[in-house]
Amino acid sequence: MSDIDLATYERDGFLVLERFVSSQDCDALQARAAELVAAFDPGPARTIFSARDQGHARDRYFQESGEAIRFFFEEEAADRPTGLALNKIGHALHDLDPVFDRVSRQPCLAALAAALGLTQPLLLQSMYLFKQPRIGAEVGWHQDATYLYTRPSTVTGFWMALDDADRNNGCLLALAGAHRGPLRERFHRVGSDLITSRLDATPWPDAEPVALEVPRGSLVVLHGLLPHASAANRSDRPRHAYALHLIDGQAVYDADNWLQRPDHPLRGFN
Ligand code: FE2
Repeated sequence: MSDIDLATYERDGFLVLERFVSSQDCDALQARAAELVAAFDPGPARTIFSARDQGHARDRYFQESGEAIRFFFEEEAADRPTGLALNKIGHALHDLDPVFDRVSRQPCLAALAAALGLTQPLLLQSMYLFKQPRIGAEVGWHQDATYLYTRPSTVTGFWMALDDADRNNGCLLALAGAHRGPLRERFHRVGSDLITSRLDATPWPDAEPVALEVPRGSLVVLHGLLPHASAANRSDRPRHAYALHLIDGQAVYDADNWLQRPDHPLRGFN
């Protein structure tokens, strides 16, 4: 880890590490995701997962997903088979699935977390992101600390490209250096509801976004306060990725975070 470029990370708020995830591990995650999808039967309840349906069942399905393996559909996917219709699987793959567990807890990731200064790293959230050909939706500008909030802010993203990612299939976009700005919003629980609260009205900096075009096997480290996004995938190619979010166990994880783990205490790399 000695060649991790910490100065660049501190300057930009992100760091691209090519060839960090082995081709075999990319294959293993993609194959395992395909198995999970094949075993998943949405049945007649599929409509409850639609992002347009704000129904109670859909809310609970999401709210409990912090300690489960759950499946979320794209909005434009009504006439597609499940395997080509999903937006993501989340949010505890790293704890509940043996293949994702192994890849998520390999020594090089633990060493990376330590090099980044996470003294007591906890693996908080994992997502398998499909960004399907033609329908993979845009993800708007956001900071991950909006969704995973600690005091002080410690959330750090490890975003792993399982396919080549470029401008045409919806690679990550980032505002370099803007992680030094304030946290703008929090998405959190109020009673049984999830709401977004404005913390700071500072607009995103008026800078040209950097397109993080990376080959398969790259790992992108994302600072929790870095504004980032991704465009829709309008290409004929998938853009699968695996995203893991860590926090430092020495920070306070508030009880009103959307992601709660009442039955599965958070674990580190061991
Ligand atoms: Fe994000």
